[in-house]
Amino acid sequence: MAKSKLDWQTGDANDRQAPLSLENVHVAYNTRRGKVRAIRGVTIDLHAGESLALIGESGSGKSTLGLAIVRLLPDTAETSPGVITYRRDGREVNVLQLKPGELRAFRWSECAMVFQAALNAFNPVLKVWAQALDTAKAHGWHDKEAVRRRLVELLEFVQLDPKRVIDAYPHELSGGMRQRVLIALALLLNPQILILDEPTTALDIITQRTIIKLLRELKEEQHFTMIFISHDLAIAAELADRVATMYAGRVVELGTSDDIFYRPRHPYTLGLIRAVPTVTGGFEQLFSIPGSPPDLVDLPKGCKFHPRCAFASDRCKQEEPELEEVSPGHTAACWHWHEVEAELQRNPLHRGALNLTDVIAVDVEVA
Ligand SMILES: Nc1ncnc2c1ncn2[C@@H]1O[C@H](COP(=O)(O)OP(=O)(O)O)[C@@H](O)[C@H]1O
Ligand code: SF4
Ligand SMILES: [Mg+2]
Repeated sequence: MAKSKLDWQTGDANDRQAPLSLENVHVAYNTRRGKVRAIRGVTIDLHAGESLALIGESGSGKSTLGLAIVRLLPDTAETSPGVITYRRDGREVNVLQLKPGELRAFRWSECAMVFQAALNAFNPVLKVWAQALDTAKAHGWHDKEAVRRRLVELLEFVQLDPKRVIDAYPHELSGGMRQRVLIALALLLNPQILILDEPTTALDIITQRTIIKLLRELKEEQHFTMIFISHDLAIAAELADRVATMYAGRVVELGTSDDIFYRPRHPYTLGLIRAVPTVTGGFEQLFSIPGSPPDLVDLPKGCKFHPRCAFASDRCKQEEPELEEVSPGHTAACWHWHEVEAELQRNPLHRGALNLTDVIAVDVEVA
C-alpha cells in the first residue's frame, strides 16, 4: 500500500475523536463581478464513523465546502482565514497548509471525494483497470497484483462483476455502474474519509436505490466516515447520522437527522422540509420557499435569509445570528427559533414524511 508522505504533527489528545475539524473556513471566488462569498465562516467537527449530510438549495456552497476540504478549488478561489485539521492516530495536519506532494498523499489515501457530475469525468480512453493502476502508481503503489486484488475486492463490494467491468471503457458502462466504479476507485487507497457530492442525482430511481443501499452498507458495515452532499432531503434522511443545513455559505442549522427532520428550529430548514412532496401530504399542501437565494457578491445585511423568511423581524435585517444550542447537540442560527418551535406545535410535521418509500419525487430541486 502507498505510504502517506504527510508531515504529521502531534495532535491534541482531546480531539482524537474528530478526524476532520473545520474552523472558521471562508472561500471567496474572484470574478469580474467581484468576490463571490461562497463559504462564510464554517466551523464543524466531523465525528469518526459518522455520515454527515450537507443539505441546502443549489448555490448554498455545499460543493465548494467539499472541494475546499480536498483542496481542489480553482485558482480563482481564496481560502482564508480558517483552519482545516485532519487527524489520524493522534497526529494531525492543517490541510490548508499542505504542500503539493503532501496534497496528493492526502487526497485518495486519507480523504477521497467523488465529485458532482463525475460520471462524465472518467478518462474515456482508459479502461477501468488502467484508471485504477494510474491512481495507485501516482501514490507510489507499484505492486500490480496487489492493486488488482484490491480493485476486484472493491468492485465486488459495489456489486459489480469484476470480470465484466475491469477491462471495460467508461462508455461501455451504464450511469449506475460508472457511479459504483467511481466509489470503488475512491476507496482504492483506503481513505479514512469519503466525500460524496450528489452521488445519486444523475441516476434513475431504481439505480438510486442500489447506490443508497451500497452507501448504507459502507456506513454500517465498514464504519466509514462520510460527508454526503445532497439537495435531496429524502436521501439525506435515509443516510445521515447528522445533518447540516447550509444557506448562503454558512451552516445555519446542525443536528442529528431526527433533530433536523422532525424538530427543525431554523425557518429555512423548515421550508426545505415542507417543500418535499409526500404521498400522505398530497401536492395541494406543497409549500415552496418564496424568493431566491441571495447574490453572494452583494449579500443583504443581517440574516441572509431575511428577505424570504416568514419569521423575520427588524433585528433580523440588521444583525446576522450565530449558531446557538437549541437542545443538546442541536444548533441553529436564528433569532426567533422559539417561534419556529411554537409553529411546529401548532402545525406538526408528518412523521415519516421523509421516508423514501413515501416520497413521490425523489429528486426535488427546491427553488
Ligand atoms: N468556479 C467558480 N467561480 C465563481 N463562482 C463559483 C464557482 N464555483 C461555484 N461558484 C459560486 O459559488 C456559490 C456556491 O456554489 P456551490 O458550492 O457549487 O453550491 P452548491 O454545491 O450548494 O450548489 C454559487 O453562487 C456558485 O455560483
Ligand atoms: S434570524 Fe430572522 S430572518 Fe433569519 S431565519 Fe431567523 S427569523 Fe428568519
Ligand atoms: Mg453542488
